[in-house]
Amino acid sequence: MKKLSPWIEIPEVQTFEHLRAAVNGYTYSRVILTALDLDIFSVVGGQSWTIRRLALALHSSKRGIDILCRNLASLGLLEVQNGLYKNSSLGATALNKKSPEYRGAYLSLLQRHWDEWSQLTDSVKSGKPLPDDDPIAEEEHRRAFTWAMHHRSRDMAPRIAKHIDLRGATTLLDVGGGPGTYTLAILAKWPKLHGTVGDRPAALQVARAVARKHPAGKRLSFLPLDFMVEDIPGSYDVILLSNVIHIYGPAENIALLKKIKAALNPGGRVIIQDFFLWDKKGLRPIETNLFALTMLLYTETGNTYAAQEVKKWLTKAKFLTVTTIPTSDEPLLEGR
Ligand SMILES: C[S@@+](CC[C@H](N)C(=O)[O-])C[C@H]1O[C@@H](n2cnc3c(N)ncnc32)[C@H](O)[C@@H]1O
Repeated sequence: MKKLSPWIEIPEVQTFEHLRAAVNGYTYSRVILTALDLDIFSVVGGQSWTIRRLALALHSSKRGIDILCRNLASLGLLEVQNGLYKNSSLGATALNKKSPEYRGAYLSLLQRHWDEWSQLTDSVKSGKPLPDDDPIAEEEHRRAFTWAMHHRSRDMAPRIAKHIDLRGATTLLDVGGGPGTYTLAILAKWPKLHGTVGDRPAALQVARAVARKHPAGKRLSFLPLDFMVEDIPGSYDVILLSNVIHIYGPAENIALLKKIKAALNPGGRVIIQDFFLWDKKGLRPIETNLFALTMLLYTETGNTYAAQEVKKWLTKAKFLTVTTIPTSDEPLLEGR
């Protein structure tokens, strides 16, 4: 199969051996999550460690750390030579709290998913998201989630931006733009463009903080918006809808696309980025189907959709032409 995303390709289960490998996939996740729980990559930092010293520093047993580190080295997350362990380049940066490239907010989100995915059977039976008994207040939860989105996409955003041709456009609205990471990457490429992130106030707080540190941040504005209950104010040459449609069901998405159409200048366009299913049967990529289960766990109506279905929604919302924009990651959809 053609590789559609930078994700690890998950094989189909056709034999009992495949089944064993697929079911035991949790051991692969768990060893990394335990390393993150112990914050091992920050403790290792830039030094080389014997197991004895590392176990002491981590307040853990020598036996446990020995077996854990051997596993992390076999996965390529640590390096080992003559019994001394040090960080791999990923461990030293994205996984290390002391590095400016640390992606802790997204790692925390992944760590939380472990317990929540354990309740998947309940969600499948009820068809409902997990009960919201999160002790963290709603606003704080939204801010943490928005930082997680920034840490998730900050290297993907410039890659995607390279493929979006916005010649002639001067205004862009990023609907549900969260931290604004994608719009900032696009603004960096198009110096005459002005961007606006439309999202809930807690997400906009994070977007403001991200923009302050970005060279194109001065060309970004912030629009408090709940697009499910209000129309989109203003009019724009381009509207970006990135990783939003999977949160909602088809009827809500069609209503949103109609609001977007109404907020576009003549000749304007919407660009949609999401986890799409690209094959005829709606089964590939496997990761996109797995992500639908995440939506089952966390949202009332969310899902992942075939690109073909989203194209039909665009037509219902009166977009006259719908095209696919190839990127180095997954393709985008564009409606005009
Ligand atoms: C998965 S995040 C995607 C963020 C960003 N677009 C990206 O691709 O990284 C979805 C975003 O949509 C926002 N959102 C969801 N429903 C919304 C609504 N009804 N009104 C405004 N924003 C909404 C969330 O607050 C969140 O920031």
